[in-house]
Order: sequence, then structure tokens, then C-alpha cells
Amino acid sequence: MVQEEVQAAQAAEAGIDSRNCFILTQKCFNQQICLVSMGKNPYLCGKNQTTMKRIYTILTVLCAWMGATAQAQDIHDWENPAVLGINKLPYHATLQLPSKEKECPEILSLDGQWFFHWSRNPEERAVDFYREDYDVSQWGKIAVPGNWQTQGYGTPIYININYPFVKDRPRVTTEPPKDWTAYENRNPVGQYVTFVEMTKEMLSQKNLILHFGGVHSAMYVWVNGQKVGYSQNSMSPAEFDVTKYMHVGKNKVAVEVYRWSDGSYLEDQDYWRLSGIFRSVQLWVRPLVHISDYQVTAVPNADYSKFTVNAKVSICNTGKKTAKNLLVQLQMACPELYGVNVNPNHRNITNQRLPKLPAGDTITVELAYHYDSPPRLWSAEKPWLYPFTLQLLGMKDSKNDEAFNYHFGVKKVEITGEVFKINGKNVKLRGVNRHDHHPKTGRYVDDATYEEDIRLMKQANINFLRTSHYPDREYLYELCDRWGIYVMDEANHETHGYGYANKVMGEDLTFQKAHVDRAESLVKRDFNHPSIILWSLGNEGGVGPNIEAMYNKVRELDSTRPPFYDSDRRYSAIWDDSYLYPDDLRREAQKVSDKPFMMREYAHAMGNSCGNLKEYWDVIYADSSICGAAIWDWVDQGLQRDGHFAYGGDFGDKPNDGPFCINGLIAPDRKPHPHYYEVQYVYQPLKFVRKDNGRIDIINRDFFTDPSEYEITYDTLRYDSEAVLNVAARLKEDKPWAKKGFVVAREQFVLTPYAFPVKQRDAEMPGPMIHIDGNKLTSWIVDGKEMLEAPLEPYFWKPENDNQNAAGFARRVATWKEVKDVKVTYTVINDRTIRVDMDYQPTATDRPVMPKFGMRMRLPKDFTQIKYYGRGPWENYPDRKGSAFLGIYEMPLSEYETEYIHPQDNGNRCDIRWFEIGSLRIEGLQPLCIRAWDYGEEDLEGVRHPNEINRGRFVNLNIDLSVHGVGGADTWGKRTLPQYTIDGNQPHHYSFFLSF
Ligand code: GAL
Ligand code: MG
Repeated sequence: MVQEEVQAAQAAEAGIDSRNCFILTQKCFNQQICLVSMGKNPYLCGKNQTTMKRIYTILTVLCAWMGATAQAQDIHDWENPAVLGINKLPYHATLQLPSKEKECPEILSLDGQWFFHWSRNPEERAVDFYREDYDVSQWGKIAVPGNWQTQGYGTPIYININYPFVKDRPRVTTEPPKDWTAYENRNPVGQYVTFVEMTKEMLSQKNLILHFGGVHSAMYVWVNGQKVGYSQNSMSPAEFDVTKYMHVGKNKVAVEVYRWSDGSYLEDQDYWRLSGIFRSVQLWVRPLVHISDYQVTAVPNADYSKFTVNAKVSICNTGKKTAKNLLVQLQMACPELYGVNVNPNHRNITNQRLPKLPAGDTITVELAYHYDSPPRLWSAEKPWLYPFTLQLLGMKDSKNDEAFNYHFGVKKVEITGEVFKINGKNVKLRGVNRHDHHPKTGRYVDDATYEEDIRLMKQANINFLRTSHYPDREYLYELCDRWGIYVMDEANHETHGYGYANKVMGEDLTFQKAHVDRAESLVKRDFNHPSIILWSLGNEGGVGPNIEAMYNKVRELDSTRPPFYDSDRRYSAIWDDSYLYPDDLRREAQKVSDKPFMMREYAHAMGNSCGNLKEYWDVIYADSSICGAAIWDWVDQGLQRDGHFAYGGDFGDKPNDGPFCINGLIAPDRKPHPHYYEVQYVYQPLKFVRKDNGRIDIINRDFFTDPSEYEITYDTLRYDSEAVLNVAARLKEDKPWAKKGFVVAREQFVLTPYAFPVKQRDAEMPGPMIHIDGNKLTSWIVDGKEMLEAPLEPYFWKPENDNQNAAGFARRVATWKEVKDVKVTYTVINDRTIRVDMDYQPTATDRPVMPKFGMRMRLPKDFTQIKYYGRGPWENYPDRKGSAFLGIYEMPLSEYETEYIHPQDNGNRCDIRWFEIGSLRIEGLQPLCIRAWDYGEEDLEGVRHPNEINRGRFVNLNIDLSVHGVGGADTWGKRTLPQYTIDGNQPHHYSFFLSF
């Protein structure tokens, strides 16, 4: 029988003709209810895994019998890619909106302090700990959810590409070099115990499901001494039916977690390698017959004049008796809100009576609504949501009743040729990648931090988030639904340790099921989030049939959102190439004509970085085939430790990749870095252009928002001789992520340029208060006090930032540690004022770019207050200064500095007209770059953490004509764009006044 016939036969058996769905018309919408499938579907009730395991066991026994075996029997589940779970229930959609879980009477949270025992390796674990008579009262305690390494057990390891254990798949315990963390701690095991009090009501006629939101990397579960099951695939939920193991009173739940498993071969993401039960644990006390899964799709028709909502709902009978007289009901909240014509006598509700449901069966029904009016579309700009309640109701009694609250959004994701569209528009994805990271709790990120992250993203005009490189906690997606962020939801899959786009893992069929498991768990859990626009098969993984199988699975599960993948482009709806220079982006995108183009990662935001962001977006906006780009990445992955943020190696972890995890737009404590503000500026939806006649034109980069929805304000400011116009587009009303008045877009125009001092002042002979020695000003006594802690002298060196370090900057430009071909002229105006002129006339033609062109001096340590007129308030550099408007700014020295977690060059300000620090005033005869620190360059170079910098002996001031830009492509070799460098083979000249 073909599938359709099977369904028809099954439906006929149940007394319903599946090919004649009945249609119920109401004034506001047409409603269709259609039974799509029914029958013995042991998979949906979760039996198939048991069956599978049974087959597996039989096979193993057979092997043993055949004598092939001593070894086969010794294979641990956690080193066997054929075993992904034992007794694990099927993946399904998040049933209740995460923010409303507390209101769901079915959910009992088991989060809290659990008993905990940690051992270095499996041999040393407490073998019997799960038994009811095993006393754990003397064990330590640990917070669940949480990672054990952030709670004092074992060692966090930060490593990028390589595996932290010896690559010998599927084994993870092969002997590593003696100095590796994994040598002594071959495969640490965390054993957890908690006790759950159960009442008679909780057990009568109920199905009990133990739910783990995320456990890294593999676990066994026991209840009251009896083995329940096993699971890996650490970023997706694992559920077990524990009904038969629980009893009235105190129940012992025991979990044994392995740091590494064969699953770890697919979890080689560039992040801290942390372990444990790091997401919530719940006990679901469910009716015996319950909703096991549901998927809601809501798409507009071709001309957006109508839309259809489809709800596919699966109901599962876990009881021992056939279930009868049940209804599935879908109820929309407040249709009036949606602009749909509603007859007040009609309720926006539909229900469907279920046929008899035999014990152990699952039925899937489909409820379809056809709205005859145009939808309010969901987009990141206008995240319009339709809330609904899904209920399972008994018609004769209410013992099986259950209700879930969720929402849907109506939207269409389309790819037409090389153009990517949302709701018919060629939107640009202004993106960022984000790891789930918290400085104190590691991989567990609490709700408040999620809100802070999404708020900061919205405020930075970010409209696209890639959940690199695994599914995050469910609440994050709800926030993106509500506040409006397009999401690329990514499968927990990376095998980078075998090489980028490797065949090893892409073709190893013993790992195929594990690959597919990760695609399936991704789509099944998150299906109902309107914010998701793309499913990513993972990051930096394999090439080959395993990827094809993932791709097919995603397409089978969802036809409304395309799959994406970076490493095997055959299995991606979008062509990705990452970390290109802006010009290469333009060229590469032009070559691809059958798919849209994106940079899934770009603008590596490590340390002091994100130069030339504007250049990228000039290219992206100019080419309709480029759908966007996502910055790497959102938050510095530093772990709080002894008053600083730790990175690779700080815990003695080996091997490690040092500070390469510190690549965020914001610090671990969510404080924005200066480059966060540049992203905010370059990503702004409105561009202001001032015409010669003074008119300001607005170019709108958004599609679903009109500029008139903002309040546009104009401020003309006069600073000394200069007049500037600041234009801003502000929110007219409060949003969940910002208050009314918040500036969404802004620009500054210079109306009357600054008149730099040109007049020669009368020179006097230097008095005894001023000493000049060649190019250096060696002493300056004012009011009897020496003002120079070190001379004012030409100085062309600048410590590297991370980008420059990776690009071999220090080596390439080492020659500039010595100044050359320079002549300084000091013109003493009086005892308190000197004019400085510096002239560089190169005598060679093969010199590298200059780190900077300027001078430095050291001032008394109490010169700690700064006031200046230039770009600010935050740090800015020639290739990253768009967001830093001209203004008069005042701040203490400590705020002038940017404290990077990995100390490096920082704190520059550009286009300075005048600058005051302590009693010294500097005035440029042209714009200046100025940097001030309470430490010297030599104190910074080579230091690992900011708290190790030797500070406070003096103030180190650099007064420059220009500095080398920060760079903006990657941190593994790409350089600052040439237009933001200083040519060492050209003459340079600058002048300024110093006065006390
Ligand atoms: C990318 C990778 C990210 C991260 C980044 C470097 O290629 O996808 O996971 O490792 O490089 O910070
Ligand atoms: Mg990687």
C-alpha cells in the first residue's frame, strides 16, 4: 500500500475519511481539520530506541558467541557511534513557551543543588552510586544547571581546532602526551544524585518523563537503582519515560556524566570544553494520553492577501487502555488584534474529536486555518506574533486535559535565483555569531543574560543571529521571536579536528546516524519558532554522504526554511565564504550566480578590531545577491577567575589556544567594547546623506519600517570655531529592548570646519626652565616642578593588537622601533608654551608602513583628568571611527583606556583639535591622534592579563599625526586595508602647541 492508502485505511478503521476533510466556514476564516495519519507508530511513543537497542544487544551477544568478541563486549556506549541513546524518547518541539514553563502544571523543576562526585577517569568512579542503599550524604554539592569545571571540579580547557583528547575515533581515552590535561584526567566522570518527592496524585494515571535540557557529553540515568537509559548529543534535550521506576515518597535520581564520548568527535567547536548537566532538568508529570509533539506553520499566499495556519499535532497513548472521547483544540488569542474581520459571535477556536487511540499508539492530526484576510507578517523589524493555546481535552472527563501556550508568526523565506527574500523583500542580514557563554556559569546562560544579549543586539541594529555552533537554550529563540531577530539555528556538529571540509567524518558511515541525529534534534525542537529562517547543518564539518543525509533530514522535516552549510556547498541553499576582504567579497559574490551569497563569519572581533566595517557594507548593499554577513562573534569567552577573565592556558589546560576565545563585541560581563558601537553605527537601518543645498536625504535599509516611524531630530552644535549638525532617528515609543527616544540611527555633518591655529606666535629664547637636546625636549619646569617624567621625543612604535600580531606586524615593521630621518623643531613661545614641528623626509624607498607617526612623553602620575575636543567618547582608529562623533568629552584617564582581556594597543582617539590632561594643553595645527595610559608600551607588551600591567608610575602620552588602523578581516594573517596605513616612504609633517 502506498502511504496515502495506509492512511486512508487506518482512518477508515477509525471511522473518518481522511480524504474528505470537512470544512467549517466562519466569517473571519475558513477552518479545515484533517486527519493525516494514525496507527501503530511506536516511534512516536518512544519504543523504537528500545527496539533498536535490543537488536543491538542481540547482535553483540551473537558476536560474542561467534568468538569475535571479547573486544566487542568491552565497547563502551560512550565510545560507540552506533549507540546514540538507550531508551531515549523521540525528539519533539518545545511544547510550552519557555517563559511560561512556570505556569505549566505538568512541569516539576529538578534544578537546584545535587549531590556530586567527580573522578578523573571512569575507573575511579563510584560504581554503585546509583543504588538505593548507596549513601551520598557525604558527597559535595553542585548547582544544576551548571558545568562542573566552573564549580571547582576538574579543568576547563579552551581549544579551537584540535581535539583535547587523542584523535582515535571512536575512542576518547587513548593515551595522550604526558603534559596534556587529558593524560591524568583521561575521561572525567561526574556523578550526580538528587531526590524527588512524589505524591500519590503525581503517580496515579500519569506518565512521568524525565527531561534533560543539555548534558555534556554523555550520560547514564538511573531511578531508584534501576537503569533508565543513556544519551549523547549534548546540546539537545534527552527525555526518558521513568513512570515504571518511580514510587510514592522519596525517589533517587542518579546521573553519570562522561566528559568525552564518541559524540565529542562531532562537538569540536571552538569554545571552552566544559562538562556536566548544564541545562535544566525537569520531571514532566503528564496525562497518560498526551500531546507528544506539534508543528505549526503559517505562510502567506503568493500575493500576501490570505494565509494558512497548519498545526500538525501528535497525541500519544502511554496508558494500558484504549483512549476514547478526546478532542484536540486550537484556540487563537484575541483575533481582534490581528486586523482580521471577526464576528463577535464566533470564537477563534477549532477542535477535532479523535478516533479511539489504542494503548501504545500515536495519532497525528492536522488542523488548518485559512484566513481570508492579509496577515500581519512576522519580520525582525515587526515581530508580529499570534499567540495560541493548544489543548487536549477529554469529552467525558478531564483527567487527560492538558494545555500549552505558544505563538506563531506568518512569514515567507524564499530563495529566487541568487536573491534571498523574507516576505518577498531582499532583506540584508546584519548579523552576529554567538556562543552560549557566561563568565561564571560557563555554558549555562540564565534568562536575564539572554535578555541582556538580545537587548544589546537589537540596540546595535543587529537583525540576524547565528547560534554558533549548536542550538541554544529554548528561551533565546522565544526572545528572538518576540523582539525580532532572524535566526540561523545551527546543529551541534563540528569536526574541525579532522580539517575544514574533511572527508574523514563526512564519509565515515559509522557516524552517519550521529550526524543525522543532530539535524533531527535541531529541527524537531525548534520548529515552532518564527524567528528561525535557516537551519544550519553545523560548522566546519565534513563533506560527503553524512552531510547529504543531514540535509535530506532537514528538508524532510521542514519545507519552509532552507538548509545552510559552510563546508559542503552542495548541501546549502546559500553559498558561504567567510572572512574575505571587502574587495574579495565583491569579486567572489559576483562569481556565484545560482545561489545567494553570505559570509557566515566575518570581521573577526578579537581584541581591538573591527576596522573597515563600512567598506564591507558598501559592498553588501550594492549587490542584491549578498544576503548578509555575521560578525565573529558576540561575547568574549572569558571565565571569571581571581579578579580577571581567564582564557586558554590559565587553568593549566593543555593543549590550549590562549586568548583566541576572546573575540567578542562585548566583554564576558556584557560591557560593550568600542567596536560594538561601530557595529551599531554601520548596521543602522537609515543612512543620512547631506546634499550640497543642505538638504538631508534618508536612505532606508529596512523594508517593513518607514522612516516616518521614527522621530528625526536635528541638533546644530558649535564647538569653538566649528559647527556640526547631528541628526538622529529615535524610537517614538518604548520597545521591549529600548525606551522611547532611543537613537536607532545617527549621523554627523560638519557645517563649518574647525579653524586650526595657523598663526606663528612670537618666539622667545628658551629660558632655564626648558631643555632641548636634539630632537628631544628633556626637561620643562613649571612653577618649580618638573613636568616631564620622560622626554618628549619622536616615537613611531606602537604595540600590536591581536589582528596585527597574527599578521606578523611586529616583525614586518620592526625597523620603526628606531626613528629615522626625522627632525623636530621646538619653538619656545614662552616658559609655558612651546610649538613643536616634526618633519620626516625618507632617505630610503623600501620602508614598511609605519606603526604610527608621532611623538611620546611621560607626565606626572597625577595628570589623570582628561578633556578633549575630537572623536569620542569611545576609543577610535582611522579605520573604525564612524560611530565616534566629534564632541567635547571629559573623562578620567582610566576611562580613556580600553582594558582588553588580552592586553594590547588601545585607547586612541582621532581627529583631536585640542586635548587637556592635568595642567597640560595640546593644540594641533591639524587633527591629532592621542593616546594616554598610566603605563608604558613596554609594560603592556608580553603581559597576559590587565591586572599584570605595572601601572601608575607616570602618564604615558602619545601625540600623533596618525596611527595604523586596527584591521578588520581576520586574526590569522589579514592586514589593515592600505588606505588606513602610513606610508613609510612618503614625507610626513605635523605640528602642535604644548602649554601649561
Ligand atoms: C571560524 C570558526 C569559529 C571560530 C573562528 C575563529 O572559522 O567557524 O568557530 O573558530 O573561526 O575565532
Ligand atoms: Mg572551528
